[in-house]
Amino acid sequence: MVSGLGSMTGPAQEGPRVIVALDYPSKVDALAFAGRVTPTLCRLKVGLELFTAAGPGVVGELTARGFDVFLDLKFHDIPTTVARACAAAARLGAWMLNVHAFGGVEMLEAARAALETSTTRRPLLIGVTVLTSHSAGTLQEIGLQTDPATQVLRLAGLVQAAGLDGVVCSALEAGILRIRFGTGFVLVTPGIRPASAASDDQQRTMTPLAAVRQGADFLVVGRPITQAPDPVVALEEINSQLYARL
Ligand code: C5P
Repeated sequence: MVSGLGSMTGPAQEGPRVIVALDYPSKVDALAFAGRVTPTLCRLKVGLELFTAAGPGVVGELTARGFDVFLDLKFHDIPTTVARACAAAARLGAWMLNVHAFGGVEMLEAARAALETSTTRRPLLIGVTVLTSHSAGTLQEIGLQTDPATQVLRLAGLVQAAGLDGVVCSALEAGILRIRFGTGFVLVTPGIRPASAASDDQQRTMTPLAAVRQGADFLVVGRPITQAPDPVVALEEINSQLYARL
């Protein structure tokens, strides 16, 4: 476990904090990256692009290599459909999976209940709050007269009330969420950008070290690693920033 975080530390984290987003167009590309790293360096995220292109079997191929897999499919549908999708995701061997908090408490509770009856190892169940690509302008566009931080706090309250393990949020909200919801609530933060990296389509970003200091448990990092001239060097650089300076 990383030391030096004091009261901001979330649930005791064994193993790597960095979850690399395998946003690749094919299984070949994703497995090529997985072949260059180890489960001690990072966990891996399978999102919509790779899952749609490669199919569910890619999850098993990655777990067979010893990786913890975050299945980032952001389920959002009627409660029964989401519950059944979560049970199916657990059977694939996902270590973590997520649902949209915008689905409401009944949907969130159905998702949690589906995992409790599952016979496989229960994955961490995380609620997506406000996407890190969204700004106050995006929320207004869809009819929400609020700012991202207020909306994240509101949705995180629903997620905790429904008994999920934590939320996906921007690192900008991690500090207040850690204070409000305590150390047992898992905070997963995308929108991570090393100081030298481009922000791409992300609006609410933070550096890896600053995010963990705010209270993030896990950092989802995609393009700053996968599009780097040498992805493994980029990953090792982030790890060394985290573990040398915490
Ligand atoms: O390339 P980049 O580091 O921006 O990738 C971020 C990853 O995190 C993407 O795979 C994206 O789908 C995911 N994500 C996000 N915002 C959320 C939840 C997931 O950017 N709220």
